[in-house]
Amino acid sequence: MKKLYSILLLTLVSLSGVAQQATQPAPASNASANPLQPYYVAIGFIVIVFILTIVVLVILVRTLNLLTTQLEKQRAEAAGKKYVPTPTWWQSLTRQLNDSVPVEEEASIEMAHSYDGIRELDNHLPPWWKWLFYGTIIFGIIYLVVYHVTDSLPLMQQEYETEVALAQVEQQKNMASKPQAAAIDESTLVYSADATIIGRGKEVFVKNACGSCHGSDGGGNNIGPNLTDQYWLHGGGIKNVFHTIKDGVVEKGMPAWGKAMSINDVRDVTFFVLSLQGTKPASPKAPQGELYKPEKSDSSKTQAAAK
Ligand code: HEC
Repeated sequence: MKKLYSILLLTLVSLSGVAQQATQPAPASNASANPLQPYYVAIGFIVIVFILTIVVLVILVRTLNLLTTQLEKQRAEAAGKKYVPTPTWWQSLTRQLNDSVPVEEEASIEMAHSYDGIRELDNHLPPWWKWLFYGTIIFGIIYLVVYHVTDSLPLMQQEYETEVALAQVEQQKNMASKPQAAAIDESTLVYSADATIIGRGKEVFVKNACGSCHGSDGGGNNIGPNLTDQYWLHGGGIKNVFHTIKDGVVEKGMPAWGKAMSINDVRDVTFFVLSLQGTKPASPKAPQGELYKPEKSDSSKTQAAAK
């Protein structure tokens, strides 16, 4: 009866598992639901069916065993013989695995010594132990041949190197798919009056409140210098300005923006700052630094010359 209860309980538990699984796919209509969910439900269902089948099989086998022993007992009684139960499958397996002498026959393997009444038996090594031991020897031979004689499988060091090489290939592919990010580098930057880049740069300027130190029109204030004139503390031209914005002049109060924003944003805001050249801010701060004379190749010259 106890058994019956536990089976019932098991069935209920597994059924509630199914119910839980079944309620989960409901939000599948929203796009973020895991696409593998139906598989999980199916696998869960299979596992439950599997467990139930095993439980039922075990119960069947035990009932069958009980019936056969009863039958054998009755037969033995009818024939007037003493009933000796046949060992179960499990009993014969453990006997084979352990090869131990039954307690009643221990006298046959008793050794001649006795220490304070503790006697020694001459049992065999248990076969399970011996098989395990032989197994390790066979495994060792196979391992040696496969990894060190024929070199059929890679060693850990080689596995590591292959994985690193694969990762490098993957990384290069990634870099190649984002040529822009890789290309932004002060040594190759060239300024052009590109309206989209300048537009994005203006957004970056506003969003990061550059105006709080440089004036909203770049004219400078009591903190930061005027960005619209031709005088620069750290050099004019795309390369110098990009460098100043990216790495900042931290000790003078100009943050290193390369750490706070993407390299694309730094480039865009640099373009915007250069586009301010020659504009007329409302209250320009007096020039600071040196007059920057653009190089021939520097196209920001057009901006400066326009003044
Ligand atoms: C907290 C105040 C502050 C903020 C915010 C700030 N700056 Fe500056 N910036 C300064 C100061 C101060 C200097 C001058 C550094 C010096 O004296 O060497 C400066 C210098 C510069 C220079 C170099 C000017 C020259 O003469 O060489 C550029 C370009 C510049 N800032 C751009 C920006 C941009 C773009 C932003 C927004 C992303 C920004 N700054 C935000 C304070 C600030």
